[in-house]
Amino acid sequence: MAEQDVKKGLAGVVVDYTAVSKVNPETNSLLYRGYPVHELAAKCSFEEVAYLLWNGELPDGAQLEAFSRREKAGRVLDPGVKRVIDMLPETAHPMDVCRTAVSVMGALHPLAEDSSREANMAKAVDLFAAMPAVVAYDQRRRHGQDVVEPRDDLGYSANFLWMAFGEEQVPEVVEAFNVSMILYAEHSFNASTFTARVITSTLSDLHSAVTGAIGALKGPLHGGANEAVMHTFDEIGIRQEESLEEAAARAKAWMEDALAKKKKVMGFGHRVYKHGDSRVPTMKAALDKMIAHYGRPEIHGLYNGLEQAMDEAKAIKPNMDYPTGPTYHLMGFDTPTFTPIFVASRITGWTAHIMEQLAANSLIRPLSAYKGPEQRAVTAR
Ligand code: COA
Repeated sequence: MAEQDVKKGLAGVVVDYTAVSKVNPETNSLLYRGYPVHELAAKCSFEEVAYLLWNGELPDGAQLEAFSRREKAGRVLDPGVKRVIDMLPETAHPMDVCRTAVSVMGALHPLAEDSSREANMAKAVDLFAAMPAVVAYDQRRRHGQDVVEPRDDLGYSANFLWMAFGEEQVPEVVEAFNVSMILYAEHSFNASTFTARVITSTLSDLHSAVTGAIGALKGPLHGGANEAVMHTFDEIGIRQEESLEEAAARAKAWMEDALAKKKKVMGFGHRVYKHGDSRVPTMKAALDKMIAHYGRPEIHGLYNGLEQAMDEAKAIKPNMDYPTGPTYHLMGFDTPTFTPIFVASRITGWTAHIMEQLAANSLIRPLSAYKGPEQRAVTAR
């Protein structure tokens, strides 16, 4: 096969149809089932958006109530899953903990080998409901704290924060977290969703597909970028006493130096969006609210300094992971928990794609262009 036929990284290749979401890089827009994501973030709860991704329509009052009841019933950390998590060292990366927890949930699921639409919907809702307990407990155990039991009187986002911190959060913080969960939920054929679809295309089960997707999301070129952004902030140094301008100047100098050394700076650039990520303005507004709420102008300075210097040098724009990293930091999450929060959100998109793949399946099996040695005989050595 000629070299020019190879689409390295599948860049620009359209591999299937989807009705779950539409990314339009020309207009920097993202639609979930036809709805602009910034409108969903302004007007909906994450529960409503999860329902939308799976069912194609937003729920009415009665549907939402039934769905929330189902979600609340699945919030408690399964003792079997907790036992397995407790066997993992506290030094294990939280993404490894998530991956293991999902794998165990699959093995324990009563419908493990049933991949009917009904069974997959039940498994998807179970994962959606259970993931906050896994993420929250893993962060807590790393800090020597015990499980916080879920609360039925709180919505998904408020309860997630409750289980992570054991304290009820004010509405502004819950709202910013809810926005991040909605914006992270779905993004067409990104690397982890494509991984889930590849696994599903072999007629493997939903938990196997999600486990593989978590592995793909872990990498810093994908979901792991939100953690990497915080490492950049830490490397520059977060100085709470500093003004916005002082922090911005140090961040700018750091970026100029990094780019001079040809470093790739995480949180910038995107395979599809070349003029800005559709989700960033909404997430940046949520970050701004958190900066004001926690009174941390120096974070604003670091953010602006890096963004400006990157724009001036290479005109590369921030992606969604850039504002989410510092937002989760301000809320009190430790850095390794950032990508697992992304998992808890993206489970909705992954499982919507898994069900869509199964409904019109074709084994995903591309070709490769061989460039190794020509055929040769095995001779005596
Ligand atoms: N920092 C510095 N330079 C970057 C960059 C970044 N974050 N992202 C892209 N570039 C540069 C590349 O060095 C390359 O420059 P060159 O042509 O001089 O070699 C050019 O922009 C094209 O980059 P490339 O990596 O080929 O584009 P891509 O479409 O394959 O990459 C990403 C997309 C996301 C993999 C890439 O932008 C990246 O690695 N970003 C950082 C990781 C990240 O934030 N991931 C989360 C994505 S939501």
